[in-house]
Amino acid sequence: MVTIGNHILASRTILAPMAGVTDRPFRQLCKHLGAGMAVSEMITSDTRLWQTRKSQQRLPHQSEPSPRSVQIAGSIPDMMAEAARQNVAMGAEIIDINMGCPAKKVCKRAAGSALLQDEPLVAAILQSVVAAVDVPVTLKIRTGWDPQNRNAVSIARLAEDCGIQALAVHGRTRACRFNGQAEYDTIAAVVAAVNIPVFANGDIRAPHQAREVLDHTGAAAVMIGRAAQGNPWLFREINHYLERGTLAEPPSAQELADTIAAHIRAIHKHYGDYLGTRIARKHVGWYVGSLPSGEIFRKHFNELDNPSQQLKSLNHFLTGQEEWETAA
Ligand SMILES: Cc1cc2nc3c(=O)[nH]c(=O)nc-3n(C[C@H](O)[C@H](O)[C@H](O)COP(=O)(O)O)c2cc1C
Repeated sequence: MVTIGNHILASRTILAPMAGVTDRPFRQLCKHLGAGMAVSEMITSDTRLWQTRKSQQRLPHQSEPSPRSVQIAGSIPDMMAEAARQNVAMGAEIIDINMGCPAKKVCKRAAGSALLQDEPLVAAILQSVVAAVDVPVTLKIRTGWDPQNRNAVSIARLAEDCGIQALAVHGRTRACRFNGQAEYDTIAAVVAAVNIPVFANGDIRAPHQAREVLDHTGAAAVMIGRAAQGNPWLFREINHYLERGTLAEPPSAQELADTIAAHIRAIHKHYGDYLGTRIARKHVGWYVGSLPSGEIFRKHFNELDNPSQQLKSLNHFLTGQEEWETAA
């Protein structure tokens, strides 16, 4: 059983925060399909920027199922504390701090994983956020800032001392960006060093792999990012494998079609017609990427800019696959 403060997670699989991907519709879908928690896209700690449409759409909402974990990014302790307070007032039940993202925009302001170089600043940020809110605060890190400076264990101990209640570790350094293969030895060392739940993250794509990573690291849960894009059923499949040691049936063609349609409808509703139809293209591209004729369909779908046309065309493709294969 994985607990974060007073929250008991329904499973040992967590959706990783991904800017531009883990918006409210996708988080809700992943939770519905078995993710024990789904962390929001990061929100800047600069509250002056929250009036932008992008930030408005990222802010938490009371209607989202628990536990609502909202990730904040920044490097000034007081601003991080204020951002945490305001998010809790809007419905966040867990505050997650981003020290794992190598994105330029964040790192230029010395936020994200660049902070790992400055342990006193890390401590100041963590202490001020923990003191600011009465909900659990969690932290997401990489294993260090480059392979010669893997200080995840030291950061993890510091985090625990500061009152952080769970820690997600991506098995790469900042310098590694997304290159090479994630390594899990440092994650195992972190698990051994602290008494808070640790979530293992990086390159986990299949049920047996989740089992291996949990066994190797002793982590409380796995955190899945890119492999969930276009495959939210992965949470259910991993949960099934962890509980029973057997592979779950893949989703039927009907379930596939119904789930994707519901997801796309939720995107249209959340973002409105103009933005919604554009954001839908990205997700549909992931969904159909591995299907026969998926590439042909993706190109066709990308030209549609009307919500009902998108849904009609998607339904036609997903329920009339043979027709498309012949057309190809
Ligand atoms: C498109 C994209 C956006 C991301 N945005 C964030 C973010 O906002 N905050 C964060 O902590 N990590 C972010 N990450 C990193 C992921 O949370 C995760 O640590 C990384 O993708 C490794 O896990 P995976 O191999 O399962 O994808 C992002 C990754 C991707 C691919």
